[in-house]
Amino acid sequence: MSIGILGGTGPAGKALATRLASLGIDVRIGSRQQERATEIVAALGEKWPGRSLSLTGVTNEEACEADLVVVATPWDGAAPTISALADRLAGKVVISMANALQKVGDELQALVPPRGSITVAVQQAAPDAFVAGAFHHVPARGLANLEESLDADVLVCSDHERAITATIELVDAIPGLRGVDAGSLSSAGAIEAFTAVLVGINIKHRAHASIRLTGFKDS
Ligand SMILES: NC(=O)c1ccc[n+]([C@@H]2O[C@H](COP(=O)([O-])OP(=O)(O)OC[C@H]3O[C@@H](n4cnc5c(N)ncnc54)[C@H](OP(=O)(O)O)[C@@H]3O)[C@@H](O)[C@H]2O)c1
Repeated sequence: MSIGILGGTGPAGKALATRLASLGIDVRIGSRQQERATEIVAALGEKWPGRSLSLTGVTNEEACEADLVVVATPWDGAAPTISALADRLAGKVVISMANALQKVGDELQALVPPRGSITVAVQQAAPDAFVAGAFHHVPARGLANLEESLDADVLVCSDHERAITATIELVDAIPGLRGVDAGSLSSAGAIEAFTAVLVGINIKHRAHASIRLTGFKDS
């Protein structure tokens, strides 16, 4: 199993890459500039000596060769990045974790992007890919720290059963995370917008809280 992360050099992509690589998954950190990805991989190796993380620094184009691809660019770069790579992504599961947020005064507020959510825009940019939204609510800081245990639900939405299944399998492979099928891409706008609330809570309480749903028979 290999995972490619587009824009994997930022806090969110690096954090997810580190967690997945710590599980023995082959992760390719993608960048618009290969040298930057190579530097990030070297820095992560130095940060976690002895963990033998299976990480490679590649271009975003090369990251698309992985079995499953995650887009971890800023929200306004997600659909354009995917659009340019659409041919390479045909037939693949692509996970979008981008949240459209803007800073207004002291707070981050949710924006309503043109197609209602970034995940929908990503699906429309790569119509032959199987796009899911996931990981929106997991703060990079906790995810990046391999010494910190995780305890969160990850809401997963897609119009494709195949994408839901593959994404939940990936989430469930990370100890402490549980993937929850949150329905079709109609859910994506609300999921992404809720991140603004969560970030506000985290700033106010100096926390890095995520979400945990209750009421499931097995929870
Ligand atoms: N940070 C978190 O805690 C967190 C948690 C959950 C979800 N998210 C979401 O995950 C995404 C990434 O977050 P982040 O904080 O890691 O973002 P970031 O640092 O601003 O950007 C990530 C990477 O994207 C690339 N990039 C920047 N601008 C781009 C553009 N216009 N087009 C294409 N690529 C571009 C850059 O990599 P190169 O220059 O190497 O190409 C950059 O290192 C965001 O959409 C965010 O909402 C973040």
